[in-house]
Order: sequence, then structure tokens, then C-alpha cells
Amino acid sequence: MKILLLGNTGQLGYELNRTLLSLGELIALDFPKIDMSDPDNIRSIIRENQPNLVINATAYTNVDKAESEPELAMAINETGPGILAEELKKFHGAIIHYSTDYVFDGTKGEAYVENDEPTPLSVYGETKLAGEKNVRSVGGANLIFRTSWVYSTRRPCFVSKVLEWARKHETLHIVDDQISTPTWARSLAETTTQVITLGRDNIVEYIANNAGLYHLSDNGSCSRFEWAQSILTLDPEKETQITKEVLPASSSDFDTAAQRPLRSTLSCEKFEKTFGLILPDWQDALQLAMQS
Ligand SMILES: NC(=O)c1ccc[n+]([C@@H]2O[C@H](COP(=O)([O-])OP(=O)(O)OC[C@H]3O[C@@H](n4cnc5c(N)ncnc54)[C@H](OP(=O)(O)O)[C@@H]3O)[C@@H](O)[C@H]2O)c1
Repeated sequence: MKILLLGNTGQLGYELNRTLLSLGELIALDFPKIDMSDPDNIRSIIRENQPNLVINATAYTNVDKAESEPELAMAINETGPGILAEELKKFHGAIIHYSTDYVFDGTKGEAYVENDEPTPLSVYGETKLAGEKNVRSVGGANLIFRTSWVYSTRRPCFVSKVLEWARKHETLHIVDDQISTPTWARSLAETTTQVITLGRDNIVEYIANNAGLYHLSDNGSCSRFEWAQSILTLDPEKETQITKEVLPASSSDFDTAAQRPLRSTLSCEKFEKTFGLILPDWQDALQLAMQS
């Protein structure tokens, strides 16, 4: 099996690069070798490599900045994935693509399932939703995994920000009205790799037979406030923190360019039933991540 991994320096891409190594021939590319905002570049990369499977871990993920750079976010999150899927179909390849809980407005009041109607609140959410639709409309062998609150210990993310704030401020104000599920990039990478392993005899046929949209996050849910508290508790260098108190805040206390959904927890039942795989509880994953 020839696998092409796009975006191997991102949070998820870095972990996929590790976990996919044992599965066959792996070509890993990052910007600028692959530029998802450049249709000609995408087409030529697929023609040159003709992989059996592409895993697209690239994305424009700066949720606030996307509000002022909608064209770039659209090119990378929306147009690029569609072109990738189209080109791959010509060469009978399969694609695994990722999306986000931010396609929802967070008003459902319980965990979202795949056929709930998405109504994104931000440019990022809109472009990711349009990217899903573009990949799906091409048909063929595609899996789209919608995930939430991805973190790693290697790139700037909520975890690194909380650890940084804990060394700068005695009091932290963290929103307690945004609820979803923190998902360790490694959980996501390992589970993706397990899915590919299940279909390794004929990956294109396997993905075509199971094609579609799946919710895929670590298990459970929490507010950002609870997540921050856990990060501080599990910090292996806790003695260097200067934070004395963490206070709950409301999203409306912060002036952010993009609006976030308040409750965007994803139900992963469809994924679990289809593939027989379960992701870890978010707290167990965070504990392992903080030790890694
Ligand atoms: N992060 C989250 O909280 C979150 C939540 C839900 C869903 N997701 C989804 O999960 C997937 C993985 O996210 P992540 O957190 O791993 O993202 P990430 O860490 O921001 O990584 C994104 C990758 O895309 C690359 N990239 C940016 N612009 C590009 C371009 N024009 N052409 C090619 N590559 C480009 C980045 O390269 P550089 O390193 O050079 O910038 C980076 O390698 C994405 O689909 C994302 O939408 C993420």
C-alpha cells in the first residue's frame, strides 16, 4: 500500500507520520511541497505519486484569523480537499479527511450525530463544512472524520497556552460555557491507523465500502475551564506554576474575532459500531499526553 500523508508537521500529521510508518510505503509532505491553496500543485502531487491512500492532515486551523482571511481559509479547507478527492478518484485512490465540531452552532443540548444539520458560526466552520461536502460529492472511497479540540504537546494549542499562562499569571480566567471533548492528536492518529490496518488487504475497496462521515473524538466531555484545571493538575512541572486560582468566565467576557459553539460534543457511536474501535477517555489521554 502506498500512502501519501499531507501535513506531517501539524499536530495530527506529526503523530500520523509515526503511526503510519509500519503500514507500507509512506510519503509524507508538508507545505510548501504540498500547497493546499494551489490546485495545480495538488493535481501534480497526486499524478506524480499515484497513492492508494491519501490522508489529509492539512488545514487552515486559526479560527480567529480565518475571519479576516476567508479566501485563504476557503482555498485550504474547502477548494483544496475537493480537488484532492477529484484527482484521487481518477487514479482509483482513497482519501481520509478530517473536519471539526465547529460545523455545529452548539445549541442542540446533547451530543451531535452525523446527520444533525450543521450551522457553523465562523468562517473556519463554514470552510471546513464546505470541504466535507466537496470531498463527499466526488464520491468514491472517502472517510471524513469530524473531531474536536485537538491538542498535542508539540505545537501551540490550548494545552501549551494554559501551561504558558500558568507561568505568567496568578489568576486565570477560563471559559466554562464552551463544552466539547479534548482529543489527543495521538489518539486520533492511532485510531486512524487502526482503521487502515482493518482494510489493509484492499484499502480502496474497504474505504469505499465504509465511505462517509464519522464523528471521532476522545471520550467524555468537559468545559474549557475543567480542561484547564486538569492540565494544571497533570503538569509534570507543577512546581514552576505561579497561578494561585482559576476562575470560571463566560465566552462573552472575551472579545474574539470568531464565535465558537457552546456545546459541540460529538457522539462517536457510528464510528464505534462500524469499526469496532473506541477512543480513550479524554482525561486518560491527557494524562498520557502530559507524560509524553
Ligand atoms: N486543532 C483543533 O482544535 C481541531 C479541532 C477540530 C478539528 N480539527 C481538524 O483536525 C485536522 C488536523 O488539525 P491539527 O490540529 O493537526 O492542525 P495543525 O496542527 O494546525 O496542522 C495543520 C497542518 O496544515 C499545514 N498547512 C497550513 N496551510 C497549508 C497549505 N496551504 N498547504 C499545505 N499545508 C498547509 C500546516 O503547515 P504549517 O505547519 O506550515 O502551518 C500544518 O502542518 C484538521 O482538519 C482540523 O481542521 C482540528
